[in-house]
Amino acid sequence: MFKATSVRQFSSSAANAYKVTVLGAAGGIGQPLSLLMKLNHKVTQLSLYDLRLGAGVATDISHIPTNSTVTGYGPEDDGLAKALKDADVVLIPAGVPRKPGMTRDDLFNTNASIVRDLAKAAAENCPKAAICVISNPVNSTVPIVAEVLKSKGVYNPKKLFGVTTLDVLRASRFLSQVAGTDPNKEIVTVVGGHSGITIVPLISQTNHKSLPKETYDALVHRIQFGGDEVVQAKNGAGSATLSMAQAGARFASSVLNGLAGEKDIIEPTFVDSPLFKSEGVEFFSSRVTLGVDGVKEIHGLGQLTNAEEEMITVAKETLVKNIAKGVDFVKANP
Ligand code: 2OP
Repeated sequence: MFKATSVRQFSSSAANAYKVTVLGAAGGIGQPLSLLMKLNHKVTQLSLYDLRLGAGVATDISHIPTNSTVTGYGPEDDGLAKALKDADVVLIPAGVPRKPGMTRDDLFNTNASIVRDLAKAAAENCPKAAICVISNPVNSTVPIVAEVLKSKGVYNPKKLFGVTTLDVLRASRFLSQVAGTDPNKEIVTVVGGHSGITIVPLISQTNHKSLPKETYDALVHRIQFGGDEVVQAKNGAGSATLSMAQAGARFASSVLNGLAGEKDIIEPTFVDSPLFKSEGVEFFSSRVTLGVDGVKEIHGLGQLTNAEEEMITVAKETLVKNIAKGVDFVKANP
């Protein structure tokens, strides 16, 4: 009797009951990201995995009185498989961060194999999960995950996302600073990829279409290279963690809202995209409507200025190389 009642209660809220797994949960991004996911009421099971301290972070976060149970895992006792088992959403911030002078691409050699192995475990334990990749270089790690999922026969392009939300947050913040406006009201679409010149903010689609050229150029540069400001300020101790966690949590929240059937959930994100496939660009970030099956609609870029068209052309050239690097890595190191 008692059991039946609790089952009925659970199923009545099933649309808002999700298992979210964070891989790399004890790292600089992983800890605040896990904390923010504990505060998300759609999450009922929060599963935290890391090479060390997964259980410690989980115990710490578990004392926060929200609805979810929190479980921590390390590599022992098949912990990665258990952490991922039947997850609805997997967030991957695992890997090493940049030091001053490094580009995101310089992280490739270390992070590529980390992401590949985590993707294998996800393919085996939660093949239907929405996978959100934060580990850099995102332009290459997303194709790595896609290749692994393909090799396991479980690739669903609607459920694989590169998280580019920090570029969107920075764009809102930096634009509001030059325009003297409320950052909450500055919605900026950022397209392309997630590194340097592949990050293309579409300022012409905001309320600030005619910024002076110098202001515009400096703003675009700051959005493209905002991550470097943090890397330099941390002076060898890493890259953006707190703002990245906020960005990851916002994106994960949108994915969960989409899965729950909420309407008009739109985020720019780096996905398997038809927009420039005919030119060999398999993945591209643009505004995406999120739905119950993941990607519901990939939006076009809309009206662009000549300057934005030029930035897109340059971004595509780099993206083709970044994407091929990820694909080739998995071919050579399956
Ligand atoms: C950034 O944009 C860490 O890639 C992240 O700062």
